[in-house]
Amino acid sequence: MLKLLSPIFRKIIIWKFPRLLRDCARVFGYNNNFTIGGITYKTDPCSVGRTPLGELTAGGAIQMIKERGLRNLRVLDIACGVGTIGLTIYTKLKEDSVIKEVVFADINIFNLNSLRRTLAINNLSDLEGKCFHIYLSDALKHIPKTEKFDIVVSNPPNFFIQDFLNIEMSGSTLGRYSRDWSFHKSVYGEVHEYLTTQGEVWFLENSEAIKENEAKFLIEENPNLTCEIKPASRERRSLYWTVTKKK
Ligand SMILES: C[S@@+](CC[C@H](N)C(=O)[O-])C[C@H]1O[C@@H](n2cnc3c(N)ncnc32)[C@H](O)[C@@H]1O
Repeated sequence: MLKLLSPIFRKIIIWKFPRLLRDCARVFGYNNNFTIGGITYKTDPCSVGRTPLGELTAGGAIQMIKERGLRNLRVLDIACGVGTIGLTIYTKLKEDSVIKEVVFADINIFNLNSLRRTLAINNLSDLEGKCFHIYLSDALKHIPKTEKFDIVVSNPPNFFIQDFLNIEMSGSTLGRYSRDWSFHKSVYGEVHEYLTTQGEVWFLENSEAIKENEAKFLIEENPNLTCEIKPASRERRSLYWTVTKKK
């Protein structure tokens, strides 16, 4: 049946309809509580809540850390939403000193409120200020330059729809938007100052929003950085990693 529909229509049904359903469910409060990797989240209507790409980002990052045998990592989960990426990485890898600290940063105070509630209901609040740190920050702008990271990871905001007059925004929809790639430009303009010598930036990108060569070009506009593109998911071929290092 799906085969009979035009490719564009198929794309809308396969990718957009589930998202629409999720957004509706969130508006009515059905999707605000969820569990990932043993951590229970209770999020707010204005926070981004659960994002499938966040879970893919966490899973991919965990795999890359394990494959490369990395240890003692200080990780920045930037544009962290309600913290699912950083918290999943922490809970899955905290043994054997793989993860030392996780720093969370987001521009949306509702997301950070949800994150703090999640820490509280999972008896993790005591770790804030020790192995967890939280910044309300526009990109890296409000994170002190004394902070250094081995991995900066993100499922970043990427899409932008001009039609804000007609589209009603939920927290999760608005959270995906970044006008004119301002988030990326801001992060990649100064991230080299936040990386340890071996530090890397891992962003999960979508070629439906930005093509691989465009992402690489945007990153390497900073002469201090070099970027490699890596495939991310066999099931969703439009997804890829940008792996960025200092030159
Ligand atoms: C696609 S969501 C991803 C959220 C989370 N990382 C996840 O995967 O579940 C993008 C996030 O970027 C945040 N964001 C948007 N613009 C930002 C900015 N300029 N600085 C920091 N965070 C920003 C939004 O608040 C939202 O939480």
